[in-house]
Amino acid sequence: MSLFNIQPEFVTSATKLEECPTESLPEVCFAGRSNVGKSSLINVLLNKKNIARTSNVPGKTQQMNYYQLGDRCYFVDLPGYGFAKVPKKERDRWGKNIREYLLDRKTLNLIIHVVDVRHDPTQLDEDFFYWMGMNEKPFCVVLSKSDKLSRNKMNQSKAKVRRIMKEMNIEVPILPYSADTRDGIDEIKKLITEFVTD
Ligand code: GTP
Ligand code: MG
Repeated sequence: MSLFNIQPEFVTSATKLEECPTESLPEVCFAGRSNVGKSSLINVLLNKKNIARTSNVPGKTQQMNYYQLGDRCYFVDLPGYGFAKVPKKERDRWGKNIREYLLDRKTLNLIIHVVDVRHDPTQLDEDFFYWMGMNEKPFCVVLSKSDKLSRNKMNQSKAKVRRIMKEMNIEVPILPYSADTRDGIDEIKKLITEFVTD
């Protein structure tokens, strides 16, 4: 059965690695700045309006939320980074917890790094690309909110992200998509399926 026909279930929220479920199923996590549309992407993929909570105010997702797809895999919605309203001390602790998760979680098969297509990658985004590359983590970039740009502008954004990564010697899929029109969603589903099935 296709992964995306399975009825998803919310499992748990974790703040750090030790609170995550026992390593068993392959995992796909969704990372990126606050408000870029990580939780929305999970909803679109799972065909649920609101299994992952979304908001037009940044900082909605505060914990690592686990969704299970039968006996196939987990999707993990991560809190966004770069959210200025969170006190620095808390941001640092969060950063450490997420870094540990990304580095040490053995069952993490794919990291989907979501970037809002309308904005150039920030320093934090570039640091993230670099860090993923350095640590040889399996990741891809999803350029969200493609409905907000003309095709021409979108291609320019995609080329820019590709250029930045090329300078870092990183070559990963860059997939534009829109939660509103669902353009590009099939390519993302295909990639996820490849990474969670062996
Ligand atoms: P945090 O949990 O705060 O890190 O944010 P997030 O990355 O999970 O973003 P979320 O999914 O909550 O979406 C933020 C806002 O962007 C919401 O108002 C969404 O409706 C909107 N949004 C997400 N994806 C798209 C998209 O593809 N197109 C458009 N037009 N809006 C989108
Ligand atoms: Mg969220």
